[in-house]
Amino acid sequence: MVFSNLVSESFREVAVDAALRAGAFLRTHFGTHPAVSYKGSPTNLVTEMDRGAEAIILDAIRARFPGHGVLAEESGARPGAGTHRWIVDPLDGTTNYAHGFPIYGVSIALEIDGVLTVGVVYDPSREECFLAERGRGATLNGKALHVSSTTRLAESLLGTSYPNDLRGAPRNNLAEHGALMLRCRSVRSIGSAVLGLAAVAAGRLDGYWEQRLGAWDVAAGALLIREAGGRATAVSGGPLDLDAPSIAATNSLVHEELLDALQEVASAR
Ligand code: IPD
Ligand code: CA
Ligand code: CA
Repeated sequence: MVFSNLVSESFREVAVDAALRAGAFLRTHFGTHPAVSYKGSPTNLVTEMDRGAEAIILDAIRARFPGHGVLAEESGARPGAGTHRWIVDPLDGTTNYAHGFPIYGVSIALEIDGVLTVGVVYDPSREECFLAERGRGATLNGKALHVSSTTRLAESLLGTSYPNDLRGAPRNNLAEHGALMLRCRSVRSIGSAVLGLAAVAAGRLDGYWEQRLGAWDVAAGALLIREAGGRATAVSGGPLDLDAPSIAATNSLVHEELLDALQEVASAR
């Protein structure tokens, strides 16, 4: 038990330290309008800062856990020797970042045997570090986090965003956004899934959904929300699938209403 606590402490330490260091790097270069290149679509941006932040995180993980597997957005999957897999989005909100709009974050999760075990989201602009450990709750800069207590969708503030390959792609989320705007207090399009999910964990949003994401967008955020008392599923209501995630994440109280609304729009297509 003592041994396993020590091991889990070191996972947490590495995740938090890597997120803070990558975040400091991003903050230092923020506003410099980095050179942009494109990943297959004119709205799917990548910058040298995405790659620089990812290198900082992967170096930190490899230095302590050379046998662990990694799935990182920019460099892809590197299988490990065992059942540990780190899931990394070094810069979530690249479009915001490239334009000098200060809503972006770093996301690092550790999955063990297919179970999300540690999740860290860091917001460099606000210097907020969200941390979740399976079965141990969630914190924001060391203080316990709880989802909101809103019970009705009509009284909710929701968040969403759009796939990077929006133009001409299926399930672009425009119809869902329109429909939800008329059923809740408002919907914020944030441009950073990881900060949107962290905001649900912190009770700042009552729910968040997106149609098509990567595992790195949702892994840490889903654990944060669950550990803060909320619920994270696929938009179908089924289990979150890290291989091809959509996400509906709420304080749990408005979950069914959100799923019903999303389902209604999907069936009208
Ligand atoms: C994107 C952001 C955005 C979401 C996109 C993601 P990136 O991540 O989270 O909010 O709508 O689907 O791909 O590319 O900035 O890391
Ligand atoms: Ca992302
Ligand atoms: Ca990213």
